[in-house]
Parts: sequence; structure tokens; C-alpha cells
Amino acid sequence: MEPMVYWEADQLDFTVETTPPMPPPRQVLMVSPDYFDVVYVINPHMEGHVGKVDRALASRQWEALRDTYQQLGFEVHVLKGVPGLPDMVFCANQTLPFRGANGQRGVVLSRMHAPQRRAEVPHMAHFFERQDYVLVSIPESVSGSFEGMGDALWHPGHALLWGGYGFRTDRAIYAWLAQTLKIHVVALRLIDPDFYHLDTCLSLLDAGTALYVPAAFDDEGRALLQRLIPNLIAVPEHEARKLLACNAHCPDGRHVLIQQGCTETVARLRAAGFEPIELDTSEFLKSGGSVFCMKLMFF
Ligand code: ARG
Repeated sequence: MEPMVYWEADQLDFTVETTPPMPPPRQVLMVSPDYFDVVYVINPHMEGHVGKVDRALASRQWEALRDTYQQLGFEVHVLKGVPGLPDMVFCANQTLPFRGANGQRGVVLSRMHAPQRRAEVPHMAHFFERQDYVLVSIPESVSGSFEGMGDALWHPGHALLWGGYGFRTDRAIYAWLAQTLKIHVVALRLIDPDFYHLDTCLSLLDAGTALYVPAAFDDEGRALLQRLIPNLIAVPEHEARKLLACNAHCPDGRHVLIQQGCTETVARLRAAGFEPIELDTSEFLKSGGSVFCMKLMFF
């Protein structure tokens, strides 16, 4: 039986054999913020922020994030930003890295929703080509857009991809991804424009724990999350909306890198046994991004 995309909780069948779980990623890709700016508005967080980025401060915030990954023992690869591509610094969005059943490493190349961001993808493709990754493009016969690890999140330790759709990614992409990569995909409809990417409202911390924003999902999505994730930690809506608390990143099952000031979320993380590391990403919040989308983990 071929892996399938499952929309409803009662259709889930994890006895179907798939590609094994992705290994814990050890490498981090970041794009330097030399040309980061807010020059157009493609999500609600960007409204009122055109031309308002403090570039020097943005650079310091980006460097602090890079240093944190290095201090945690990760290898950080840095790709130089490109003039005219102010959102390229959000390097979670242009690809989805994977490891196939035969051990072959690859990336699915995104088909960006916003025309302003489409030229970012080839730069990331070249990087992965140099790393000997197989590049997988979405065929023309499959319509719709796809924004990589902004919307598609690997479940740590499980052979499962969570796929957000509705704003940047189309649901049809996940049927193709499931068949092509031989993986289970649980697709979740996103219903609130402030949470336009799945990584703004769901953060998988370890195999059994995740942060989420209940209001970002429909009833079916909430039911799927509740069914498959034993320790679901709800994030207060004001921290999720204003500070993108769910754009936190847990790279090792223990430390959680998160925008500073998410007081309640940090308390809940500590209570669940995690070690939050608070970082300021204020300049990137003006563009609708924080920790999670400023890096890409690969294998
Ligand atoms: N300004 C960027 C956009 O709207 C921000 C992307 C943030 N990335 C993310 N994965 N949430 O596309």
C-alpha cells in the first residue's frame, strides 16, 4: 500500500510502511541579513513596518542566533544574502530537506506563493547542489504553491510530516509529497492570517511534545494534533501573535530558542522540562518571522 495523505483522524493508519524517520539534523543553514528589510507587505505582521527595520540591530540579533546554534554544538553554514531579496534571510521557506529510504539526501524546492520571493529558491538550490543533495522540483502537473519548512515540519523521531495549508501552501502539494517521498503527511488547515505559516503556530519540541496556538487551526486540525501529540502545550494567544512564541525552535530535544518576553510560554516550557533560551528577534518580527524561520536544519 502506498503512503497517503490523511485529512481526518479516523483515517490514520501508521501501519503503512514508509521512509524511516528523519535523523536528528546536525547542520544549520542561515542566510546573512545584509539585505534584510521590509519593503512589501505579504503578511499582516509586515503592515506598518515598511522601511522601519534597524539594519544594524537586525545584524546583531542574527549574529546572536548564529552564535547560539554554534554554542549548542551545531555546524552553521552561512549563505550570503542577495541584494533585492529582503526575505531571503528566512531560509526555512525555500526548501524542505529530507533523507530518503536509501540514505540519499535531498531537498524539495519550494514554489513560493509571493512573486517577490520566487528568486530566492535558486540560491538555496545551488547551496544544496554543492552539498551533493538531490534537488526535487514539484512537477508542473501538480498545481499550487509550497513554502518548504515554513509549512512542512518533520515530527522528531517519527516518520511523519505535518503540513500546514491555506495561506502559502496548497493542500494538493501534500498528496504529491506523500507519494513522492513515501511518507505520512498530516495536513492541517490554517485559518488565521496572523498564523500564515505552520511554523508560526506549531513547534514540535520532541517526539511527544509541541507548542501550539489552538486558534490557528480548525476543529479537525486541533483533533489531529490532540490525538497524535501527547503533550500539547497551548501558547497564550497574545504571545503567539505579537511575539511569534510558536516560532520557537528546539534543535536538540532540550533547549528551546524563543523570542524574548514570552513569559507565560517560557514558564510552560520550564514546567515541561525544557531549557528556554530567550533571544531578541524584534527586527525580524516586523517581517513576520522569528527564530524558527531564520534557519534551516539539514542532515
Ligand atoms: N516576510 C516573510 C514572508 O512573509 C516572513 C517569512 C517568515 N517565515 C516563516 N517560516 N514563518 O514570507
